[in-house]
This record gives sequence, structure tokens and C-alpha cells, in this order.
Amino acid sequence: MYNCAIILAAGEGKRMKSSTPKVLHKVCGKEMVNVVIDEIRKAQVDNIDVIIGTGAEKVRKATELKNVEYSIQEKQLGTGNAVICAKGFLKDKKGTVMVFTGDAPLIREESIRKLMDFHNKGGYSAVILTSIVENPSGYGRIIREENGEVLKIVEHKDCSTEEIKVNEINSSMYCFDIESLMNSLDRIDNNNAQGEYYLTDVIEILKRSGKKVGALPVPFEETQGVNSRLQLSQAEKIMRHRINEKHMENGVTLIDPDTTYIDFDVKISNDTVIYPQNVLQGKTKIDKGCVLYPGSRIDNSIVESDVTIQSSVILDSKIGSNTTVGPFAYIRPESVIGNSVRIGDFVEVKKSSIGDKTKVSHLTYIGDAEVGSGCNFGCGTVVVNYDGKKKYKTIIGDNSFIGCNTNLVSPVKVNDNTYIAAGSTITNEVPDGALAIARAKQVNKKDWVYKKGLNK
Ligand code: UD1
Ligand code: CA
Repeated sequence: MYNCAIILAAGEGKRMKSSTPKVLHKVCGKEMVNVVIDEIRKAQVDNIDVIIGTGAEKVRKATELKNVEYSIQEKQLGTGNAVICAKGFLKDKKGTVMVFTGDAPLIREESIRKLMDFHNKGGYSAVILTSIVENPSGYGRIIREENGEVLKIVEHKDCSTEEIKVNEINSSMYCFDIESLMNSLDRIDNNNAQGEYYLTDVIEILKRSGKKVGALPVPFEETQGVNSRLQLSQAEKIMRHRINEKHMENGVTLIDPDTTYIDFDVKISNDTVIYPQNVLQGKTKIDKGCVLYPGSRIDNSIVESDVTIQSSVILDSKIGSNTTVGPFAYIRPESVIGNSVRIGDFVEVKKSSIGDKTKVSHLTYIGDAEVGSGCNFGCGTVVVNYDGKKKYKTIIGDNSFIGCNTNLVSPVKVNDNTYIAAGSTITNEVPDGALAIARAKQVNKKDWVYKKGLNK
């Protein structure tokens, strides 16, 4: 059976108090509308139409890689009006259309499939995905007849004192027979508390015209919507636990899943141990056997096997296996750190490569540099890569020993097997095998303190 889906995503989301359209607020690093699209795709729904309006261009841009179609809702006149705007998309389609909203990101593939099956096998004109909840406040209520059959949906603001007590809520996710849906949408009005054209009114219209209407309850954990920042944080928390549980199933140790923040697209191999307060973002990939001690943020980076990282920030970079990073290191974009390297405390690396087995143990800045393997950086080395106008490159060969408090004024080249005396400011090429000393010779002025009378 042919299936397609519509996602309502044109609303403004007033309650978010944001300049970003609501459906672009993120859950675990992914825009809510993209979370919904990805889940629908997993259920093998090919044609997806996103109804856009508020911030239409932003929503289009954020979803541009998802291969979806778009319908425009010029004015946000309500969810029913939004579906009417998909007329073009539905024109030549027959059979079933599913409806989702871009502000309910917790729906799972299994429930989408269940909804489809239930609808198609039961011969329904419409099936509503519902949940039984303790506190239904804010949601549309499912009103059933005495025999238990669904009669209608009543919005919270339109509920009578009896209806408001009902605790089965409308998730705003549905399956409809396309023809029945379009015919009844022509008949909805906006005589209600919010003056909007409600999609929910279609249910009663179908029912009263003798069509079969049903409801399929699933856990509220999958249907709760996001209208406010508080609800956004609640959705994020549920999603975070789902992601974390998946990693633990795959053999990753999370010391405290409540305080471990892993985005959707992060990949982690088994036997990696992650301590609390780590934030793993973007397309980060962590290989096996790593230990992430507390307090790091790693964004869009590749960390190879058996790496130890503590309290550091790593952005758009690659860390080779057996390397240790931190505490308090800052690896900035386009850095490539080799294998068995030591990047120690208060070390900043920017757009540089560091060869295998090189040690940069403390208080050092390396920017726009190519560093060989087996080097040792003394404490407080600075690559002086910027003259106030332009950035320049420094090249350091293999097995170089850079003394403490050295300045390497770029552009400059230090060849293999060299020594640089502590405190040097290097401005010229250092040849292979040389010791470079670039500082004033020490002078001791005998009894100077006593002669000046400065002794205590
Ligand atoms: C809606 C349902 C309610 C349900 C709840 C579940 C209606 C009338 N109410 O209420 O029964 O319990 O969802 O979360 O359908 N949108 C548009 N165009 C519009 C208005 C809204 O595209 O003109 C989109 C929004 O972007 C949003 C979705 O539709 O993604 C739902 O709109 P929202 O205003 O959040 O509806 P609720 O009040 O939550
Ligand atoms: Ca909503």
C-alpha cells in the first residue's frame, strides 16, 4: 500500500519566545523537524511533505538534505488550514496519508508502523495516535461514546467541565484516508476558542458522516509535544536516555548517563569509558578503549583507539591512538594529532599537525604549524604565527627538542634532530643537528645589590 506523510511545521511557536522557528529548536543536537523526518523515513515512508510558513526559508534550509517536498502556509490559521495547504502534494495520491507535527520529536519508528498497520487493516477513515496521561493539560482530549468508539477531539481551551477531565490526549499524529480527509477539511470552520481552523474537527465530521474512526494509544513518552522551553528540556532528557542506552547496549560504559550528553550522530566503539559531564557533538567518532574523564566537549572530531582525554575542548580535529589530552587542553579546528602523543595541561593547538610520540606537556601554543614526530616541547613554548596582519606557518622536523619558553617566530623552519636553548626567540632556520641559542648572554654584576644598598 502506498504511503505518504505530511509534517506540520508552519507555526510560530509563540510560547518558545524565540527568533528561531519552533521546529528548528534542537533535541540532542538535531532540529526537531529533522528528528521527525528521520524517524518517518525509518518506517519506509517515501514521500514527505513539510508544511512551512513561519521562518519558511530557515526551515527549508535546515531540511535541505532530507529529500522532502514543501507546501507553503502563508498565514497560520490553524492545523486544519495547514493540511489544506498540502492539497497540491496530495492531488494525485490515493490511499493513506500520515500526519505528524514538527514539534513532537519523540515518536518512534515502531509506533509509526503500528499506526499504519492498525489503520490499513481496520479499514478506518482516520486513526488518531493517542496517549493516556496523568496531566492532560494543554492537549486536545479524545471524547469517546458510551460504547467506547471515538466521537471527536476537543481542544483544551474548548473543553466543557466534563471533557476537561478526560485523560486520553491527541498526539496530533494521525493516519487518514486521503479522500475522506480532503472532503471533510472543506467543511471545518473556525468557531472555537482560538478562532483557528482545527485539523481535530475532521474527526467528528468523519464520524457523523458514518465513517470508521479509531484511536491507537501509545506511551506518552513518544507523543509529548514541545511548546515551551521546559517541554524542550523534557524531550531532550528522554531522547538523551534513549541515545545513551543504545551506546551502553553497544558496550560503552557511561558512569552516569544522567550527565552524559551525546548527540544523535556520534559514534562510539566498545570498551570506551565515559565519565560524567562529557558533551559529544556533531559527527564525532570515538574508537574503542578510550577513557573520557570528566568535563570535555568534543565536537565533530575523530578520536582513535585507547585515547585518554580529560577536561578539554576538541573541535573539528583528529586525535591518533594512544594519545593523551588534557587536562585543560584546547584543540582547535583542523588539527591532526598523531599516535602516542602527549598534549598536556593548558596547551592550545590550532590548525596544526603533530607527529607521533611528540610531547607537548604544558603551557604551550602551537598555531599553523607542522610538527614532526618524537619532538619534545618545553613548558611555555609559543609559536608566534601572527604579525598583526597575516598568519604564517612554522615547520618543525622530527626529534627536535624545543627548550622551555621558546618563541618560534613564523614563518620559520626547525630541521630534524635539533636543540633549541630555553628562552630563545627563533627567527631563522635551524639546520639539521644544530643547537640554536637565541637570547642575550648572561652577565653577573658582582656585589651590585650591596653597592646599591638594596639588601634587606
Ligand atoms: C495540537 C492539537 C492538539 C494536540 C496537540 C499535540 C490542533 C487544533 N490541536 O495542539 O489536539 O493535543 O497538538 O501536541 O490540531 N501548525 C501549522 N500551522 C498552523 C498552526 C500550527 O503548521 O496554522 C503546526 C505547528 O508548527 C506545530 C503543529 O502544527 O508543529 C501543532 O501546532 P500547535 O500550535 O503546537 O498545536 P497545539 O496547541 O500543540
Ligand atoms: Ca504543539
